[in-house]
Amino acid sequence: MDDLIFLGLESSCDDTAAAIVTGDRRILSSVVSSQADLHEDFGGVVPEIAARAHAERLDLAAEQALSQAGVALRDLSSVAVTAGPGLIGGVMAGVMCAKGIAAGAGLPLVGVNHLAGHALTPRLTDGVAFPYLMLLVSGGHCQFLRVDGPEDFSRLGGTIDDAPGEAFDKLAKLLALPQPGGPAVEAEALRGDPDRFDLPRPLLDRPGCELSFSGLKTAALRLRDRLIAEQGGLRQTDRSDLCAAFQTAVADILAEKSRRALAASPVPLLAVAGGVAANRVIRAALERVTGDRGVRFLAPPLPLCTDNGAMIAWAGIERFRLGRRDGMDLAARPRWPL
Ligand code: KG4
Ligand code: ZN
Repeated sequence: MDDLIFLGLESSCDDTAAAIVTGDRRILSSVVSSQADLHEDFGGVVPEIAARAHAERLDLAAEQALSQAGVALRDLSSVAVTAGPGLIGGVMAGVMCAKGIAAGAGLPLVGVNHLAGHALTPRLTDGVAFPYLMLLVSGGHCQFLRVDGPEDFSRLGGTIDDAPGEAFDKLAKLLALPQPGGPAVEAEALRGDPDRFDLPRPLLDRPGCELSFSGLKTAALRLRDRLIAEQGGLRQTDRSDLCAAFQTAVADILAEKSRRALAASPVPLLAVAGGVAANRVIRAALERVTGDRGVRFLAPPLPLCTDNGAMIAWAGIERFRLGRRDGMDLAARPRWPL
């Protein structure tokens, strides 16, 4: 095995992240600086604020990652950076920072697709072999990918409207629960009855792996408004029951579509990534699907499921081994399908 050491930089959404990762899959450091507090009052990530914060914090994150790992710039093999897809101001800040470090230290540069970073994480955490299926479920993404190589991805299907994390966040807002909504809804659902309300499972009646969550969100809104009109307000049990019904509906949708993805593309392993993969009810539903089919289920540790620099460093290592190098003309791309 080679003795590669990579610095990975990530700044495509609202986390400024830097990490040092080795070719033999050791994460020497992983620094994540969340901007959640900066965007809290706006009900979503504000691109301009995100870009400025990334520009201010990237250098520091890189410096901390190096010092925590006990690694000097001259020890590095290369700098890997998210070059898209994402909020363009943040991606540009990351690419500029990586170019500066690479030029200053005389290092090669490797541009990484953010989605490839998520999709290759099971190889970093568990050294899994190709092929496998990846279900990426976060606040901004929802798709099934078949992964056949470091640059060989096929999209089997994805959301036609909202991402599930976005739907969890909107439900939390409707019910005056804290943000991010996913963990709040999951906690509330623990006390709820998932069978009291009947919420729709959009697109389950249609073949294929496309998913939809916006109808579910609208149904939850109508139900909330009806309860308020009938009772003059929401009771605690209404909130819990609505959260439980919503979470069960999302779990059912993801489980059924995973079943179809595995039927269409039989592989030995289904992995998940993205913040929604933290949800225990959803994980359990996916484990039942894989268990039924004798397929291995893999959920990487949460800090590696959500946005981080280690996955970017690792995806950079995988590309580097294929001989890929980028130059000062590396472009930041707002859209970049795998
Ligand atoms: O991957 P992530 O940290 O960021 C991006 O979206 O890129 O995912 C954040 C999303 C949020 O929408 C959050 O509500 C959701 O993941 N999430 C959850 C849970 N924890 C986080 N959704 C459901 N259940 C959870 N326990
Ligand atoms: Zn992500």
